[in-house]
Formats: sequence, structure tokens, C-alpha cells
Amino acid sequence: MGPEDLAQVLRHLTCTGLDPDLLVGWNTGDDAGVYRLREDLALILTVDYFTPVVDEPYDFGQIAAANAMSDVYAMGGQPLLALNLAGFPAGKLNLSVLAEILRGGEDKIREAGALLVGGHTVEDAEPKYGLAVVGLVHPGRVVTNAGARPGDDLVLTKPIGAGVLTTALKKDEAPPQAVEGAVRVMATLNAAGAQAMQRVGVNACTDITGFELLGHAREMARASGVGLEIRADSVPLLKEAEELAARGFFPGGAHKNRAYFAPYVELARPLAEHLELLLFDPMTSGGLLMAVPSSRTAALLEAPELSTRRPAVIGRVREGPAGIIKVL
Ligand code: CO
Ligand code: CO
Ligand code: CO
Repeated sequence: MGPEDLAQVLRHLTCTGLDPDLLVGWNTGDDAGVYRLREDLALILTVDYFTPVVDEPYDFGQIAAANAMSDVYAMGGQPLLALNLAGFPAGKLNLSVLAEILRGGEDKIREAGALLVGGHTVEDAEPKYGLAVVGLVHPGRVVTNAGARPGDDLVLTKPIGAGVLTTALKKDEAPPQAVEGAVRVMATLNAAGAQAMQRVGVNACTDITGFELLGHAREMARASGVGLEIRADSVPLLKEAEELAARGFFPGGAHKNRAYFAPYVELARPLAEHLELLLFDPMTSGGLLMAVPSSRTAALLEAPELSTRRPAVIGRVREGPAGIIKVL
């Protein structure tokens, strides 16, 4: 669902009876819940599932699982256990399709060093797949989206533009090589980014998924009480994303995201329509966006886990106005 509809529904929930051991609840729009079990151990809980974004069932399974576990990495944790969540039109599609989706997911779970312990599948009009994930983190090492400080650099660990590529794919207009590249990026675990940020020490982190770069950046700015500045020309794009964006292959989610988040975004200068919309393009399974003290930026970019993935400095944290993203 788009952010506008979701906000309508979620405002009816109240967080009453908060427990002091609930370190991160849902009220800061963070990636996962974090609950302290002991002085040296906290649980991370998160769930994510969606409809297919690519044609190959195995690839879809990998992407959905990588995305679900990404919220654990975004909190600085390590996935421990996973449960499959699936919907499938059993009478309409061959069961081998579901088997391939689950195989893709299981391979990713294993790659993450986590354990698949069960799941739940329902009849559904179209396939859906994802995971509920339990992860672990030291309570003192939780990385929230609320710790960004003025002067921090903003580092992004994966290119954006997957929504444009998968929309073009559905219309048979995406070059196969570009699709392959997008699948590889979306299926890549955010484990390396999580390890690097734990070693170097960052102030805040979130992952870039359905609410796209500016939406997730806005959540970080709001939760941290700071402003952010993003340089549009420093944001890495997937191959062919700009060309396909210029031809108008945007998913409906990009327009919904822009409608909802535009009031929090200030453009320093008008951007070409397609370039602006790209910043609102749902990424499905994107990278980590980190706010890192500028004295540690070089160490983060050169961290052995991360350096080969070409992380990019895309902007910085400003004093204010709080919750506002300036796009240069
Ligand atoms: Co997230
Ligand atoms: Co999520
Ligand atoms: Co039961």
C-alpha cells in the first residue's frame, strides 16, 4: 500500500503500555522492532512480503528474502531465524513455480547464515512471498533511523531505479542485461553494509525499499529531528534506469510516493520530471542509507566488506529544517 493509505490506517493504532525493554517500536517508522532480552542481547523482529517484481520465480524468491532480512541488517543486526509467508493461486499456476520461489528464498536465508524454521501459505489470486525474520543484536549496538546528527555524511550502498526497470520489464521494454543487473543488485544481501557500519560506527541507518530514497530519507530526518541534503547527481542509478525513466516507465508507487512525500522535499532547482520521479521510485530491495560522522566516512567507504560494492556519498545531514529533505 502507498504511504498515504497506510498512514490513514495506522493512526488508529496506539502504542499503550510501552515496555522499557522495547528499544525500538513502530512509532519512529523504523525498519524493525527491537526488544531487549538481557543486558547483552536484543531481538530484532520484522516482516515483509510482496507480489513478484521479476519473471523468474527463483529470482523473485531471492529478492523477497533478501529484502525481508534487510530490515535486520538496517538495525545493525544478524538474521537468526526465518518463516516463509506465501500466497499462491494453486489452481492457476503450476506448483513448481511456488517450489522455485521458496528455493530462491531458502538459498538466501542460508547465505545469510540464518535458519528457515517454518512458514504459512494461503490460496491467493496472485503469488506473494516474503519472510518474518528474527535477528539478534547487542542492545548497545542497535542502529536506529533516529540518530543522524548535523554534519554527518549520507552514504548509500546500492544504486536506485529498480521500479523503473521492473515496470519496463512487465512491458517487455527492458534490455535483458539491465534486468539481470537489477536482479543482482536487489538479491544482494545488505550483510556487508551492516558489518561495515558496525565496525566503523555510524549514527543512523535505514534501508531503501518501497518508499524509495526520499521517503526513507524523510523518515530518517523526521525520527532524528534533522534536515537532510541530497545531491541528485551523486545518487547512483541502475544501468538503463535513466533512459527508461525518460521514456516514462514508472510504477504507480512512484507517483503515490511523490504525492505523499513531496511536501517534505525542497528542490533547489527544478529537476527534469523523470529525474525527480526517479528519486521517488520504489526500490523493492535497495541498499542501506547511513548517516556517518564525516571523520569516519573514508573508513566506511574503504571498509573491505563494502568497498567493492561502490558505496556513494550522496549528501549530508543539516541542522534543519527538521524532517525536510533538500535536493540539490
Ligand atoms: Co526497511
Ligand atoms: Co521492511
Ligand atoms: Co500452529
